[in-house]
Amino acid sequence: MRIAESTGDPAWLYHELSLLDTGFYGGRTRYPAPPGEYYKELGGGLLLPPPPEFSGVDTLKALKSRRSRRRYGPVLNLESLSAVLYYSVGVTGVAWWGGPRRAYPSAGALMPVEAYVVARGVSGLDPGIYHYNPGEHSLEPVRLGDYSRALYEISLEQEHVSTAPATIILTSIISRTASKYGWRSYRYIHLDTGHAGENIYLASEALGLGTVAVGAFYDRRLCALLDIDCVSEMPMIMYPVGPRTG
Ligand SMILES: Cc1cc2nc3c(=O)[nH]c(=O)nc-3n(C[C@H](O)[C@H](O)[C@H](O)COP(=O)(O)O)c2cc1C
Repeated sequence: MRIAESTGDPAWLYHELSLLDTGFYGGRTRYPAPPGEYYKELGGGLLLPPPPEFSGVDTLKALKSRRSRRRYGPVLNLESLSAVLYYSVGVTGVAWWGGPRRAYPSAGALMPVEAYVVARGVSGLDPGIYHYNPGEHSLEPVRLGDYSRALYEISLEQEHVSTAPATIILTSIISRTASKYGWRSYRYIHLDTGHAGENIYLASEALGLGTVAVGAFYDRRLCALLDIDCVSEMPMIMYPVGPRTG
């Protein structure tokens, strides 16, 4: 506990307490049972067009050319948004126990990551905030209207957030992971989310789009916008997405 005591920073206390030496994860678990779901479903989903099977861009090429891109064309087509969501957090198969396989790897296959879209300039989609339902491959409205200005203010006035035709926001529901991994789950949800985020980068690269991870934002204001409580479901990171320019 030396660093935690000397700095007074509770993150160090968590870090030291969650180090795994020996023993069994489950022995430390004092969390309620998981919600018994692999993903949230709000209902009223608008079905997305099927994602393409092939982009023509080699994975190794996408890995090498990936960059954080902060300038976008004004309109994102729905097919591209569909593809980015599917290849980052979509359901890509069925596991032997009947649960979904997802595009991102996940500790214990518990899949804590949820995705939302703040749409401003997506062709064929009314401006609004939507939750991505990966089972249906649909977008479920949370609230309609142009919230890009609000998102710009929430992200410490980063220009690329206000100019992107869409921004994908990743959140995590910690109880899914904590049902198995107890207090070590706070580590895993960040790792799971990071894997999904890199998928957003690589899918964007393959589709001729640009994106950038945006980790600077005011949590509670973002939660209010997404209609989540910031504790059982917490915002992790956002990705403005749009056609690549320049
Ligand atoms: C966790 C995380 C948070 C980030 N937050 C921001 C941000 O708030 N605004 C921004 O413009 N870029 C942000 N970035 C992007 C980094 O600045 C970028 O990845 C870095 O400069 C390296 O450039 P590259 O991605 O083009 O290789 C973030 C990246 C990560 C991984």
